[in-house]
Amino acid sequence: NWTPAQIIEDQIERVRAQVGDRHVLLGLSGGVDSSVVAALLHKAIGDQLTCVFVDNGLLRKAEGDQVMETFARHMGVRVIRVDAEDQFLSRLEGESDPEAKRKIIGNTFIDVFDAEAAKIEGVDFLAQGTIYPDVIESAAAKTGKAHVIKSHHNVGGLPETMKLKLVEPLRELFKDEVRKLGVELGLPYDMVYRHPFPGPGLGVRILGEVKKEYADILREADAIFIEELHKADWYHKTSQAFAVFLPVRSVGVVGDARRYEWVIALRAVETIDFMTARWAHLPYELLETVSNRIINELSGVSRVTYDVSSKPPATIEWE
Ligand code: XMP
Repeated sequence: NWTPAQIIEDQIERVRAQVGDRHVLLGLSGGVDSSVVAALLHKAIGDQLTCVFVDNGLLRKAEGDQVMETFARHMGVRVIRVDAEDQFLSRLEGESDPEAKRKIIGNTFIDVFDAEAAKIEGVDFLAQGTIYPDVIESAAAKTGKAHVIKSHHNVGGLPETMKLKLVEPLRELFKDEVRKLGVELGLPYDMVYRHPFPGPGLGVRILGEVKKEYADILREADAIFIEELHKADWYHKTSQAFAVFLPVRSVGVVGDARRYEWVIALRAVETIDFMTARWAHLPYELLETVSNRIINELSGVSRVTYDVSSKPPATIEWE
């Protein structure tokens, strides 16, 4: 039964022994796992770590700035931010199949990351935020025991061509232990205890074809929902909460005119393991505030719905 401080000390020693004076590359996503790896490695090897943060244009509101603020400005970690929105959106153009979208986003990520890595000289190691459940999951997938429903691109997506040795300091840890490490390492509480966010990001929360116009509306709607959940002290009572963009035109009346505008669905669930989930019984007043704000503040949205489906059979995400 080790304390977070002891685990950190132990991992710092191990990383230093493994890496020596060589350089390490890390794909920083802003999620808990890669963030904790970044903080840990920065403590262990300082400037021998370079992080690459790929902005795919499908992140939550202000997410890219927050990552840069926390790591680059506040902690002094070397982070390269790649603005790849155009590349992701143009490759997604015309594609509406969810699994095909996941593949495009995953492959584009690898291409962008690879291109950036090629510019950095003298890198021998690739760090990854692999945690114990990921190890189990991919072992099960290899023996054919797991039925792989979705291509979670952030698990085991090491570019074949990169020939780098892996540094995976979280391989033996569970999520709650990783969070405790994050707090001990001085990461902001909000970052460490944030709801999970899928690798394909808003790409699977815009149903069908992904467009910049849709992503921009969805980002704002999602931010309003999350802000109100925090204000009402409901954020940490839900396991995951987000907005979904429905590309259907629904009627709204403004003055004398009928307008046909987009629909936003709100999803909030309570779950232990994310395998089954119950829709969160949010207070009506909270839903009312969120709905009013989204419709009043965002042009192009005339209707908000709340998803009351349990998993199974409904999944947490809409695609
Ligand atoms: P579902 O929708 O399958 O989601 O009930 C269960 C959990 O997995 C997340 N999720 C993903 N995470 N890439 C990811 O990294 C994906 O393609 C993906 N699809 C779903 C989802 O957000 C939830 O936490």
